[in-house]
Amino acid sequence: MTAVIATISLKGGVGKTTVTAGVAEFLAGEFGRSVLLVDLDSQINLTTMFLGDARWLALNSAGHTLATLFADAVDGTAEFSLENTRQRGVSTVRGVGGIDLIPSSLDLIEVTEEVSAMRVRTDDTLAGVSALRDALAPITNDYDIVLIDCPPNMGPITLNGLAMADAYIIPTIPDVLSTYGIPQVQTYIGRFGDEIGRRLVELGVVITKYKANSAVHRDTVTRLRRDPSIQNVLPGYLGEANAIAAAAAFAEYPTLRAKYGRTQFDQFRELAGTILIEATAKIPAATP
Ligand SMILES: Nc1ncnc2c1ncn2[C@@H]1O[C@H](COP(=O)(O)OP(=O)(O)OP(=O)(O)O)[C@@H](O)[C@H]1O
Ligand SMILES: [Mg+2]
Repeated sequence: MTAVIATISLKGGVGKTTVTAGVAEFLAGEFGRSVLLVDLDSQINLTTMFLGDARWLALNSAGHTLATLFADAVDGTAEFSLENTRQRGVSTVRGVGGIDLIPSSLDLIEVTEEVSAMRVRTDDTLAGVSALRDALAPITNDYDIVLIDCPPNMGPITLNGLAMADAYIIPTIPDVLSTYGIPQVQTYIGRFGDEIGRRLVELGVVITKYKANSAVHRDTVTRLRRDPSIQNVLPGYLGEANAIAAAAAFAEYPTLRAKYGRTQFDQFRELAGTILIEATAKIPAATP
């Protein structure tokens, strides 16, 4: 069965997209899993990491992005083409196959407002919420794992991601302000689960940009590990590293080690492996 996992946080810039991209490449490259990436963020970071600007521009002008899917939901049209939108084999690391991507668009900013307006107009907070799940349903089962990169808010597009997700991970920098919003995310997702009649599984918190020489970072990790309301602090803390920042550039790499650096390779491998184990253990009927 396919495990669908959303990457989510209310705080911006904590490494959601970086974690999503890296975990996908390690699940595929190191663990042989097939992965579908879904970019729900109008900042299009995940999309351009894997496709580059030129290919995104061409797709966008042809309407082959998620903006078309959500515009269909608002307008009652059927312009979205799943086959033309799904981009195959997008990893730029040699030998890493099995990662496909559903690209996002800057136009999603405007479409998001239209979806919000539709919710108000119809007085239905769940209006349009299953658009993504329904549109991707024909291909979801082609994959072991679907990873959904959410924007840093709980708007209607994020809700679409949650409505198709079995589980979620919460990336955070281990500092005071970044961890502040974690309880809100948990509460919000719990409430949304009540609304749709299904509990989403918290796989855990992912530590990002970790600085071992920072007392604040060390103390925050300790605090999070002791916090009974946090399901799990996933091992494989991602250190703050130039190689990870540089990996955001659309470029070709001979190996995952070359792309992420030796130490970060081990961190990402441990994180991806743990996510696989947690997903198998905690998502009912999932054996990704
Ligand atoms: N472990 C790391 N070491 C160094 N730089 C990192 C690391 N993780 C992420 N970054 C950099 O930090 C910035 C923010 O990361 P990223 O875009 O992944 O965060 P995000 O949570 O997706 O942001 P947003 O909320 O805007 O979507 C990017 O420039 C990224 O390259
Ligand atoms: Mg992001």
